[in-house]
Amino acid sequence: MSLLSLRIAPDPCLSITSRPVEEVDHNIQKLLDDMLETMYENNGCGLAANQVGILKRLVVIDISDDSTSSNPIKLINPEILWVSERKASISEGCLSVPDQYAEISRPAEAHIRYLDEYGCSQEIKGDGLLAACIQHEIDHLNGTLFIDHLSALKRNLILRKVQKQLKNRAL
Ligand code: NI
Repeated sequence: MSLLSLRIAPDPCLSITSRPVEEVDHNIQKLLDDMLETMYENNGCGLAANQVGILKRLVVIDISDDSTSSNPIKLINPEILWVSERKASISEGCLSVPDQYAEISRPAEAHIRYLDEYGCSQEIKGDGLLAACIQHEIDHLNGTLFIDHLSALKRNLILRKVQKQLKNRAL
């Protein structure tokens, strides 16, 4: 496995709609494993392929908070089948918007269909953190960041902080 380099906002890859995967092959399986390794290395709970510069509809998620066990979910071409009318607000962050968090209101439950790493169709129904995470990651595949759900004022403030941080890191 290998670590992939993360794209940080406002990298253009983060605002492009990714294309569906046509064939689930060894390259896709390896990419999903590399994405998982990259996510764990950076202490994230979700990662979409465009966050490492690859414009394919691939997502990895692991919301287990216990660092001794893992429960990875690999999603290929995930589609939302249903979301609840009831909303929930969760404090979200993103590896492409480092160290910034904001409360985002989304449907509290989500039901999705996807292909697993063997190309088989699967479904997941989630609520709580899992529902928020799934929706956050599918947003990435459509070129949307969690900060795009905020007012322009709050969004720009966060983007400025990220840029400042990157500049300090580069010095
Ligand atoms: Ni994210």
